[in-house]
Amino acid sequence: MASKILPIAVRHGRRSLPRRSFLQPRSFSSTPSSLSGTIYVHRHTPENNPSIPFKFTAQNQTIISEILKRYPPQYKKAAVMPLLDLGQRQHGFTSISVMNEVARILEMPAMRVYEVATFYTMYNRQPVGKFHLQICTTSPCMLGGCGSDAIVKAIEDYLGIHPGETTEDGLFTFVEVECLGACVNAPMVQINDDYYEDLTPESMVTLLKALQDSARIAGASGMGEGLAGKGVGAITGQDENVKAGDVVGKQATRVYAGPKGVKVPAPGPMSGRRSCENSAGLTNLTSEPWGKEKLRTDGEL
Ligand code: FES
Repeated sequence: MASKILPIAVRHGRRSLPRRSFLQPRSFSSTPSSLSGTIYVHRHTPENNPSIPFKFTAQNQTIISEILKRYPPQYKKAAVMPLLDLGQRQHGFTSISVMNEVARILEMPAMRVYEVATFYTMYNRQPVGKFHLQICTTSPCMLGGCGSDAIVKAIEDYLGIHPGETTEDGLFTFVEVECLGACVNAPMVQINDDYYEDLTPESMVTLLKALQDSARIAGASGMGEGLAGKGVGAITGQDENVKAGDVVGKQATRVYAGPKGVKVPAPGPMSGRRSCENSAGLTNLTSEPWGKEKLRTDGEL
C-alpha cells in the first residue's frame, strides 16, 4: 500500500509547491557590420539615377529576343538575370536605368528586378573600373601558395587603393570576394571575366603593369573601348594577325598578344601549370596497369 501512495504523494506534492518563475537567460546577438563596399539600397548619384536614359543596342535586342525564346511567354520574367547581365555589359554597370529597362521589357514590377540585382554580388550597381579585380580571400586562397594576404598587399602597394576603391584614372576597381571555385589553384584573382591563378606578389604586379600598358596603348590608338564584364583579352584589343583570345608562347609564359606588341598574361595558372595538375608531376598511375585494362592507343592515357 505504501508503495502505491508514495509516488502519488510525490506527484501531488510537486504540483502544490508554489511555482517559481525561472528567468530564461537569452543571448543577445546583433547583425555583424557588413564589410562589403556595396550598400544594398540605391542612392541617386549624378552617374546613377533614373533620369539617365538607357536602351539596349540593336545587337543586344536581337540577343534578348533569342533569350526570351527559351521561356514560355507567361514566364518571361525568368529571363531577368541574363538581361541584367547583358545590360551590365553594355552600360558598364547595373544602373537603376538598366534595371528599370529590364523591368519594362519583362513586364514585371521594377522592385522585383531590384531584388534580384541587390541579391547577387555579380551585378555591379555602382560604376567599376575598366579592370574589375576581384581577389578571393576565403580560407583556401588565404592559405594556398603565398596566401591571398600577400596578393592583397601587392595590389594595395602597387595601385595605392584598398578593397572597395577605384583608381583615380578609372582603370582598376579592387574588391575582396568569397570563394570563386578555383581553390586548387590558390591564390587567385578574377579580372573581369577571366581567372588568374597560382599568383605570387611578383606575378600580380606584372599582370597589373601589363594591363596598364595595354589600356594606355589601346586608349591612344582608339582600340579597346572596354566594358567591365568582358574578358581581359577582349578589352585589350589584338594585333591584326592574332584573334582575340589567342594565346602566344609556351605554357610557362602564356600571354595574349595585345596591341603594339604589349603582352598581357593569358588567364589561367601563372605558375606554368596547364590546369590544376600536381605541380610536382605525376605521383601515381606512373606504371603499366597490372590488370586487363588497356591504355588508349593515342597515348593520352
Ligand atoms: S577559396 Fe579562393 S577560389 Fe576557393
